Amino acid sequence: MNTIEKYQRYVNTNFLKKIQPIVIDRAEGSTVWDENGRAYLDLFSGISVANAGHNRAEIIDAAAAQMRKLVHSNSYIYHNKPTADLAEALAGIMPIPELRVSFFGNSGAEAIEGAMRLAKQYTGRSEFVALEMSFHGRTAATLSVSGNWKRKKKGGPYLPGTAFASVPYPYRSPYGSDPETCARECARDVERTIDFNTAGDVAAFIAEPVLGEGGIIVPPPNYFKYVKEILDRRGILFICDEVQSGFGRTGKMLAIEHYRVVPDIVVTAKGIANGFPLSAFTTRHEIAKAFTPGDHLSTFGGNPVSCAAALANIELFRCEKLAECSAIKGRRVIEKLRRVSDKHATIGEVRGLGLMIGVELVSDRDAKTPDAAAAERVQDRMLEQGFLIGVGGAYGNVLRIQPPLVTPDEDLDRAVEALDKALAGQ
Ligand SMILES: Cc1ncc(COP(=O)(O)O)c(C=O)c1O
Repeated sequence: MNTIEKYQRYVNTNFLKKIQPIVIDRAEGSTVWDENGRAYLDLFSGISVANAGHNRAEIIDAAAAQMRKLVHSNSYIYHNKPTADLAEALAGIMPIPELRVSFFGNSGAEAIEGAMRLAKQYTGRSEFVALEMSFHGRTAATLSVSGNWKRKKKGGPYLPGTAFASVPYPYRSPYGSDPETCARECARDVERTIDFNTAGDVAAFIAEPVLGEGGIIVPPPNYFKYVKEILDRRGILFICDEVQSGFGRTGKMLAIEHYRVVPDIVVTAKGIANGFPLSAFTTRHEIAKAFTPGDHLSTFGGNPVSCAAALANIELFRCEKLAECSAIKGRRVIEKLRRVSDKHATIGEVRGLGLMIGVELVSDRDAKTPDAAAAERVQDRMLEQGFLIGVGGAYGNVLRIQPPLVTPDEDLDRAVEALDKALAGQ
């Protein structure tokens, strides 16, 4: 039995509409090879994880050295050096020095749940406000604050006490596409949601600074500033979900830096250790101490191998200025894609920050009718040409271009040409 046949027999993939028909065997930088030796340019980074490039020797060596010394001890029952060093390094990339105390878990969802619990304990309140079209994970609590029924269907009942506010999505905003109007009106909607759709017991507002699974939705520049003013007046915390947008993906180490707003809790995962499982939520000492003995722990969280990998990863970001690379390369790709979009009526919008780029496909540009089938076809044609891209969005019609931040410009140019070809005839 080959690998695909074993998957069909033994791996539960029933939750997928389709799994890409290739077996990935190895990877380096921005290229992955299948088991027949065919190379593909990876424009999705394993869902925005391998930001520093696949299999970076510096990260593998650090992890291997740690593995030979100690694979596991539990980072909360005993101290271990990589966990302490990583917490210090993580504090160094936060927007302000006061955000310095981290808890480490294994996955994005685990860290979001931990952050939600901490926010409840700190504020003594139990409700959350989240955004429509948001995604925060697949556990019961994180689905409860995710604003997408497709992810939630048949998994309920969910936790009570979450209210959803309008997503700041200028392309599809009921308030029109002017960014400032969208920012103001969507922030007002957060206020209305708090005041009229909750019991006045809101612990935190939780949001992704750029919505990933929702379709690479980039909120307008002043949105988070207006929201934060509203939250501060009511003593509501801001949990910033940087699971997908963090680690240079948008051209800054953290996407919230674009908005010049300081969150109360920052959640990171995916790109934190470039593929080793790890997540964190980082907050101020005053909030962190709301956890009292017995309140939290994780068996594998803060695993020394993952922490050693993350430390080497952060060092690479510093030495190679990877966030800046993402900003420069992203601008270039977006500009080229916008030129391509003039040729294809099926492209409704090209948007993004850094190398977190979405191409929204529509069957009617004026009506903005989402075209999920076209997105799937383009994904298939890209695969045939040797490129891996993502498809997502609340309507399943957004091509997601989130390559490793080290992808050479000539490869990104090849990808844009391939996309142009794949879109022809849509
Ligand atoms: C913004 C965001 N938050 C949370 C998660 C959940 O992370 P994980 O799959 O590691 O649990 C994801 C995963 O895609 C995500 O994009």
